[in-house]
Amino acid sequence: MTALLRELTVEDLPVLTGDNAGFDYFGPRPARTTVLPPNLNENGGFGVLAPGGELVGNVSWVWQRWGPNEQSRNPMIGIWLVPTARGRGLGTQAQSTLVDLFFRHTTVNRVEAHTDVGNVAEQRALEKVGFTQDGTIRGAQWRDGEFRDGFLYSILRSDWLGE
Ligand SMILES: CC(C)(COP(=O)(O)OP(=O)(O)OC[C@H]1O[C@@H](n2cnc3c(N)ncnc32)[C@H](O)[C@@H]1OP(=O)(O)O)[C@@H](O)C(=O)NCCC(=O)NCCS
Repeated sequence: MTALLRELTVEDLPVLTGDNAGFDYFGPRPARTTVLPPNLNENGGFGVLAPGGELVGNVSWVWQRWGPNEQSRNPMIGIWLVPTARGRGLGTQAQSTLVDLFFRHTTVNRVEAHTDVGNVAEQRALEKVGFTQDGTIRGAQWRDGEFRDGFLYSILRSDWLGE
C-alpha cells in the first residue's frame, strides 16, 4: 500500500481535527485555522493520501539543532492519521516518504522522531522505516494529566543510504 503526500490547503482543515484521545489527548485545544507550509527547510507539513487519493491525515516537522551551526540542525517529524486509516501500512509509508524527501532534497544528516513509550504502533512504524531508538526522554511530554516518558528515534543519511 502506498501513501502519497501533498501540500495542504484550508479546505483540508475539517479532516485534520486530531483525536484529542489516546496518544493525542492534550486537553482542550482551539480548532486549527491554518495549514502547515510544504517548505522542507522550515517547520511544515504535508497531507497524507490513501491509495484512492482521499486525505487521511498529515505529517509534520519542526527544525531543531544540536549545535550552533547549520550542519547541526535536524527536523523532528510527527504524524497523525484518522482512526479509520490506521493499521493499513499508511503511517509507515508516509513517514518513509517524508524521510526520503529530506535526504533527497536537503543536506540534513539526521531526521528525528519522538513518541510515547506506550505508542507501540508508532515505534513499529518508525523501526520499519529504518529509525533507531536513541534512548528514553524522561518526563518530556505533559499529556492526559501527567508528564510522560518518550523514546527518541533517529535515522541518519548513512542509514538511509544503507552504508
Ligand atoms: C502511529 C500511526 C502513525 C501508525 O501508523 P499506522 O498506519 O497505523 O501503522 P502501520 O499500519 O504502518 O503499522 C506499523 C506497525 O505497527 C503495528 N501496529 C499498528 N497499529 C498497532 C497498534 N494499535 N498496536 C500495536 N501495533 C500496531 C503494525 O502491525 C505494524 O507493525 P508490523 O508490520 O510489525 O505488524 C497511526 O496509528 C496514528 O496516526 N496514530 C495516532 C496518532 C499518533 O499516535 N501519532 C504518532 C504520535 S508520535
